[in-house]
Amino acid sequence: MSRIKKIAVLGAGLMGHGIAEVSAMAGYEVKMRDIKQEFLDKGMNMIKDSLQKMGAKGKLKEPVDKILSRITPVLSLEEAVKDADLVIEAIPEIFDLKVQTFKECDKYAKPDCILASNTSTMSITELSKATNRQDKFAGLHFFNPVILMRLVEVIRGQNTSEEVMKILVEFVKSLGKVPVRVEKDVPGFIANRIAAPTSVLLLGIYEKGVATPEEVDAKMKSMGQPMGPFELMDYVGIDTQYHILKYYEKTIGPDYKPPEFLEKMVKENKLGAKSGKGWYDWSAGRPQIDLSKASEKVNPMDFMFVEINEAVKLVEMGVATPQDVDTALKLGYNRPFGPFELARNLKDVEIAARLEELSKFYGKEIFKPAKTLKEGKLAKMFEKFGYT
Ligand code: CAA
Ligand code: NAD
Repeated sequence: MSRIKKIAVLGAGLMGHGIAEVSAMAGYEVKMRDIKQEFLDKGMNMIKDSLQKMGAKGKLKEPVDKILSRITPVLSLEEAVKDADLVIEAIPEIFDLKVQTFKECDKYAKPDCILASNTSTMSITELSKATNRQDKFAGLHFFNPVILMRLVEVIRGQNTSEEVMKILVEFVKSLGKVPVRVEKDVPGFIANRIAAPTSVLLLGIYEKGVATPEEVDAKMKSMGQPMGPFELMDYVGIDTQYHILKYYEKTIGPDYKPPEFLEKMVKENKLGAKSGKGWYDWSAGRPQIDLSKASEKVNPMDFMFVEINEAVKLVEMGVATPQDVDTALKLGYNRPFGPFELARNLKDVEIAARLEELSKFYGKEIFKPAKTLKEGKLAKMFEKFGYT
């Protein structure tokens, strides 16, 4: 039987409230911590609204109030973590803030308590150094909206013990979600890392005036994506997107430097859905994207090629298998198919040729084709991994 019974979730925002919600639904006792009462109240209200929606559809095993009674909102970090068997941190994507928080957690949590970060990008190994329990430290990366997205990446830092990896994999399963183990700690892990160059492409399209956000979103939605990519950026949070790019700039390279207009949006509190305005106006709910605006100036295959390219690079680096890549993108981003399911029907040298053009047009090294694509060896790579 698992030794995890009590959970502390740090942060009651977009992710924290969702992680607290699904943990309580699975029967865990949860303390949810934020730094102001108003943030806790907002988080508890989001949980209640979401549970009521689930309840109305008959998707809950217990009454809403019973589930809610297992979540205690708290302001004190010590109070939140002192009895916890597992702490899941979901505070803003700012390295120093996370380090400071984990230092405090290490002081107040029981010696055998596992500490996990829901970071979108950051080195689990580096974060774990804030503590004296690097063996009991890992990444636990949920996807937004937590209640609906099935993937959770379980990330091993250099010093995470196998026992802790196994406990966390079982914990994820107990929530009814699908764990994917990430054995190599690289910026962005699997799903986000594959999507990383796409955000650079998107911002490039906007900056160069190739198409407007709505023209891009209309095109991608008409191709079957559940949200347009600019709409998704708003849904994730423009501040989070900005911090993600800053971290990639520092750890992967200068192509990821966030453009000034994105920094300006953060300064003006245009944070997307959570502040009511971002690329779109969210004050009356989800934006209505006019599909008739789908633009022929946007080639959806360019997005696919850029993702396939990054996916190939991850496999070359030994971070993931082609099978894991497809699972991560399908379950983490709700895609109808994974990048390799698409790539196997395409000619790798043609993908490589288009990537060279994109790299030249946008002036980005990250779009340059991976070795396997350039050499036309994708089929060989599939063979090596038994990917059929
Ligand atoms: N709680 C309960 N139910 C919810 C809900 C919530 N929080 N949010 C939505 N729903 C329900 C809606 O009520 C609706 O129910 P009905 O079908 O009964 O009407 C259903 O879910 C579908 O919602 P919508 O009709 O509003 O919209 P949709 O069909 O587009 O689905 C979505 C919503 C599942 C979010 C879908 O748009 C989607 O998959 N979007 C992409 C999400 C994605 O890519 N997430 C990954 C982001 S990146 C990330 O998370 C990693 C990171 O580190 C940044
Ligand atoms: P958010 O801005 O919605 O929420 C963050 C919350 O943390 C805020 O309520 C804030 O008041 C609170 N907070 C700040 N300092 C705190 C502290 N010291 N202790 C407790 N709470 C504190 O952000 P989010 O979208 O929930 O992101 C949280 C983390 O999850 C980030 O690392 C982000 O990269 C990651 N993540 C985000 C998404 C997404 O789609 N938004 C998806 C997966 C992972």
